[in-house]
This record gives sequence, structure tokens and C-alpha cells, in this order.
Amino acid sequence: MQKPSFNSYALVDSGNGRKLERFGPFLLSRPCSQAVWAPTLSQQEWSNADATFLREGDTKWTFHNPKASATWNIEVSNITFQISPTDFGHLGIFPEQRDFWSWAQTKINQAKAQRSTPINVLNLFAYSGGSTLAAARAGAQVCHLDASKGMVDWARENALLNKLEHSPIRWIVDDVRKFLARELRREKRYDAIILDPPSFGRGSKGEIFKIEEALIELLQQCKALLTEKPLFVMLSCHTPGYTPVAMHHLMTQMMHDYKGNISSGEMVLTGDPHVLSLPSGTFARWSHDG
Ligand SMILES: C[S@@+](CC[C@H](N)C(=O)[O-])C[C@H]1O[C@@H](n2cnc3c(N)ncnc32)[C@H](O)[C@@H]1O
Repeated sequence: MQKPSFNSYALVDSGNGRKLERFGPFLLSRPCSQAVWAPTLSQQEWSNADATFLREGDTKWTFHNPKASATWNIEVSNITFQISPTDFGHLGIFPEQRDFWSWAQTKINQAKAQRSTPINVLNLFAYSGGSTLAAARAGAQVCHLDASKGMVDWARENALLNKLEHSPIRWIVDDVRKFLARELRREKRYDAIILDPPSFGRGSKGEIFKIEEALIELLQQCKALLTEKPLFVMLSCHTPGYTPVAMHHLMTQMMHDYKGNISSGEMVLTGDPHVLSLPSGTFARWSHDG
């Protein structure tokens, strides 16, 4: 197989509990419990991977190509991301969210054409900043919140790579519930909220976050932070049991006082047209105009 010089993301194959993905110049093989079918490509083609991540035992990343152990950049949905293999098998991007970035930009651009006041977006569990940078590039003021200082630093690096370091972005390292309670006391309001809660996480001071215990109240806190005429709310997650129907119900309950439309579904990783798409979490999103 020829090494691609392609500078973006593509799913290359999946199966037998693994996924083979191209992140710019490197092919990476990682575990993926959703890939319950047989791989399409041969073992020989999978063996071209530049790095392999295993969860069993002590072995984590094995770099067949030492260059893949460093840091490099890729561009997804017109946003440049710094990519780096982490101890958890993450790389600094969740490409299954790429369609949301352009969706959010369209909503922000439409609103900008109709009003002159700033558009305020809150991005919770904001990770490496994909949604933050998409919203900032469309001209919104963004509040970016993550409990991990390392992740906020990474997102700021990405802002720099995208020449968005002077954009009106508030970078906050805090526990989500503490921060939301504080924003409510300050009577802050947001036109749009984006949240991608993990199944399990820890706040900046070790506060435990479990999605099944926290999400309903979190959505109520988010609702209380919305302006009278919000633009959109985008909820996504990767937690088993949070099916598209469950996500739709959560969004319906959260937004039932507002006039608007909800869509829900599965997030998928994709590649060339012949590559089987790979389910990677679910979403529900509300917007005032569908
Ligand atoms: C699933 S990732 C989010 C993915 C991201 N939205 C994206 O698509 O690129 C979860 C993020 O939530 C953060 N996190 C976990 N628990 C948290 C908490 N209690 N408060 C704030 N952030 C938390 C983690 O540091 C991590 O960056």
C-alpha cells in the first residue's frame, strides 16, 4: 500500500474489534469495540500501520514507524489540529464530530446576518477545541471549559495553529458543575451550548463525573444559562446505552419550553466511499430553525 501524503483524516478499515485510520501521513491501528464485523482489508494491509495501540496488559502504543510517536498536524473541516498519540490511545481529535463543526458555523453565520450583537457560545468538556475553534472562526465569542489543564493548553496550541489566538475565547480549567453553578450566580447567558460529556471523568480538583448520575441535572443547568432566544444546543456522547432515541428524549425534555427542532442520530467515522462507516457515539441537537 502506498503511503498517502494526504493531510487529513480518513477511516481506512475496521473489524475484529479494531479500527485502522489515516491521520495525515500516518496509519494507526486502535481498539474499537463497535467494530463487530470482519475487516475488509487483508492482514498484510493492516500490518502497514505506522503504530498500533493495545489495551491489554502493559503494552500500549507500539511504533512501527518512530516518526509516528511525535507530534504532527492535520486539517479536518478547515481546522488544523495538533495530533499526538496519548497514553489513553487518544490523538487530540474526535473526527466523528467534524460535521457538527460546519453545522455550528452555518448557524452562527445565519444569526450574524440577522443581528449585530455578539453571539456567545459555551463549549463544555471542550477537549482539544474542535467546536471552540469552529465557532470562533465563524465569529462567535466562545467560553471553552475543560477540567484538564493539559487539554486546555493543547486547545490553545490549536488556536495558535489556526491563527485564532486573538479571538474572543475564554479558556477555563474547572469542574463542569462548579463552573456552571458559578455562571448561573453571575447571571451569564449563552446563545448556544455544546457539550460532549464523557462516561466517566474527573473535575480539575478530582471531582467525580459519572454521566448517568450527572447528565440530567447538567442539562437543566445548561438550560438555565440559555438566552431567551437561543440558537442551538448540541449534545453528543460515546456512552453505551445513550442511543439516538435516549439522546432525543434528553434533548426534548431539556428544550420543551422552546420552539425549535431536534435531530438525533449516530456519529460515524468515514473514509473513502467503499469503506464501511463506523458508529462512534450518538448525538441530539436542537436549533431554533431546524
Ligand atoms: C469525551 S472528551 C470530549 C471530546 C471533545 N468534545 C471533542 O469532540 O473533541 C471529554 C473531556 O471532558 C473533560 N472532563 C472530564 N470530566 C470533566 C469535568 N468534571 N469537568 C470538566 N471537564 C471534564 C476531559 O478532560 C476531556 O477533555
